[in-house]
Amino acid sequence: MLAFDSMTLADKLQSLKAEALASFQTADSSKALYDKKVHYLGKSGVFTEVMKEMGSLSKEERPQFGKLVNEVKVVLEAAYAEAEQALKKQEIDAQMLSEEIDLSLPSYPLQIGSEHPVHRVINEIAGIMGRLGYSLRQGPLIEKDYYNFEALNIPADHPARDMQDTFFIDKTHVLRTHTSPIQIHSLESEKPPLRIIGTGPVFRCDSDISHLPNFHQIEGMCVDTKVSMADLKGTISFFVKEFFGSGLKTRFRPSFFPFTEPSAEVDCTCPICKGKGCSLCKQSGWIEIGGCGLINPKVFQHAHVEYPKWQGFAFGFGIERMAIIKYGIDDIRLIPENDMRFVRQFEV
Ligand code: DAH
Repeated sequence: MLAFDSMTLADKLQSLKAEALASFQTADSSKALYDKKVHYLGKSGVFTEVMKEMGSLSKEERPQFGKLVNEVKVVLEAAYAEAEQALKKQEIDAQMLSEEIDLSLPSYPLQIGSEHPVHRVINEIAGIMGRLGYSLRQGPLIEKDYYNFEALNIPADHPARDMQDTFFIDKTHVLRTHTSPIQIHSLESEKPPLRIIGTGPVFRCDSDISHLPNFHQIEGMCVDTKVSMADLKGTISFFVKEFFGSGLKTRFRPSFFPFTEPSAEVDCTCPICKGKGCSLCKQSGWIEIGGCGLINPKVFQHAHVEYPKWQGFAFGFGIERMAIIKYGIDDIRLIPENDMRFVRQFEV
């Protein structure tokens, strides 16, 4: 029994304790339980209010009452912790039940990747040229100035360097602007006769509706004892027919490249307008796919290959150009974007 007179305040405390305990027990969620705890034991809760009434007690009664309040709080805290644990367990059990995973269900179908049009074109070219006896080579993406220009008969200050906007790494190294340096690597390291193709990325500071700063090329080179322009035309015409189908026409336009003499550019019927003229082909009805020519003796000289004992032709085509022609893609920039809606159309 309390030793102080104010039984009314102690009674009030006890009845609040009973009320709080009952409310903890009837809370149906941990959130509701917490709200009740705040209501009774929170900073501005019921018990704080009761404490304020301590002022009405005598000096002797106050410590006893304070002690009593503390005891009640301890009991309530314990009751709260117990109820909270039980409710949390119930809630977790319910959640587990509702989220139960049926391991026997079949999983989502695996998304099979698609072959990127660039790789598809490269693989197809390698297949066609393989049948003509050509095999694949690769070269470094960072080239010495010598391989990218000098050995291909493009000396420093030669105006032909302006044809290709170059990314320089330092004074003597560049990101290769074309796959033609692969010709030199091959001539240096292999003995003719040679029939090689080299593919891969090339880089130029150039970007618009028909130019990409990073695109792909395929280089072809044939070196043998008797090689003429007729062999070159025959090979390219065969290749273009095999690749695009016999519906598209090819034409050769006289042109200039320092590493070939004579040189030509190769055009194909525009696949979008079928030759009538549209924005892709700049109303010409033709799309350029690359250049070609007979290997300039100066290139052989640089690579220490005996000329005219050995002669050759070479060609270089843009892979993305070939892809837009073959698949009728009206904007070359779709190719590097890798939007899945686009790439999925090339599913194997
Ligand atoms: N390298 C040239 C370019 O990127 C393309 C080219 C033209 C390659 C003629 C050749 C060739 O092998 O013979 O513009």
